[in-house]
Amino acid sequence: MARGHVNGAREQGQAPPVGPTDQTRAATETAATVSRETETGSFSHEFGDSSVSRETNTSERDQLAASLPDPGAETPLAQAVAADARRRISLTGKVFPKPDHTRILTVANQKGGVGKTTTTVNIAAALAQAGLKVLVIDIDPQGNASTALGIDHHAEVPSIYDVLLDGKAVTEVVQECVDVPNLWCIPATIDLAGAEIELVSVVARETRMNRALSAYIVDMADRGEERLDYVLIDCPPSLGLLTVNAFVAADEVLIPIQCEYYALEGLSQLLKNVELIKSHLNPVLHVSTILLTMYDGRTRLSAQVADEVRSHFPAHVLRTTVPRSVRISEAPSHGQTVMTYDPGSSGALSYLEAASELADRGVSG
Ligand SMILES: Nc1ncnc2c1ncn2[C@@H]1O[C@H](COP(=O)(O)OP(=O)(O)OP(=O)(O)O)[C@@H](O)[C@H]1O
Ligand SMILES: [Mg+2]
Repeated sequence: MARGHVNGAREQGQAPPVGPTDQTRAATETAATVSRETETGSFSHEFGDSSVSRETNTSERDQLAASLPDPGAETPLAQAVAADARRRISLTGKVFPKPDHTRILTVANQKGGVGKTTTTVNIAAALAQAGLKVLVIDIDPQGNASTALGIDHHAEVPSIYDVLLDGKAVTEVVQECVDVPNLWCIPATIDLAGAEIELVSVVARETRMNRALSAYIVDMADRGEERLDYVLIDCPPSLGLLTVNAFVAADEVLIPIQCEYYALEGLSQLLKNVELIKSHLNPVLHVSTILLTMYDGRTRLSAQVADEVRSHFPAHVLRTTVPRSVRISEAPSHGQTVMTYDPGSSGALSYLEAASELADRGVSG
């Protein structure tokens, strides 16, 4: 876990000092101690199983975080290690509020590769690890979210295609995620590649997902099952009928924005589409959240893009930004989210923070 801290510092673009200074050592040792303490269950277990660890005394945690030595500006690595340790302490045992209704979020941005799938699976895993009941719906024919959650999605597997085109019930296609308790997924298979065209000629083509999901939620209640707290829908990089189905099924839109030059391009088109859906098909739909992803602290460009997005959408952008992180990009190749692949890494911490903000916002506003 201590390794995670060091990686974290590197991920944030801090150059390591020439040799270990006393401050570096002190901060690393403190961080290692904290890691060992949190490692007794790691985040996944601590959040997942007992209310005892959830109710860790907040002021004790604040005191512990404040007691960490403050490394000087000349030791950026030690600073990063100490900052991660403080973040970890303040998040350990934090209770995520349960929303009063099932929150359905569509994660959309027609721009490709901005972190939609990464955001969907990691926020979903973080919420589930905190004890909330979460469903991920993969509606991208690439099936990346299914892969990242370790969900079987070869061609014969019943999938979202069967729900949208053949009217199959969600119960017949939903799979449990083995790595993360409380997390379920409706996979996407390659069949979905043709769905965009096949949907054009079917009845109620824009509302098929909404109907299936609503029926599933009612069904769960009838069976006396605990209701879902969150549904996250991972969209393909387009504004076609699959994305429209996701907009009609959701109440909220979560837009991940990559901290790169073209970040805002296409955004006005996306917002226009949300407005169109709102006025014609789903009056409750609104953009509730924007998350800045792949933030690279070494570049001025990242900071400029982040400032610009924040100035345009001050109420929507989460305080947390997700750093560019090797561990985040490695996780899917192991069929995992970074929340289980390396829970101590700064990438996992960021997604945990983002999930916590999202959960708090849902209750306060
Ligand atoms: N914070 C990050 N740090 C490093 N790599 C990242 C980060 N977030 C995402 N990536 C990587 O960037 C690539 C694109 O991310 P992702 O698949 O989540 O984007 P997407 O918007 O879902 O793409 P698509 O539009 O193709 O569906 C992936 O290889 C992913 O592993
Ligand atoms: Mg994707």
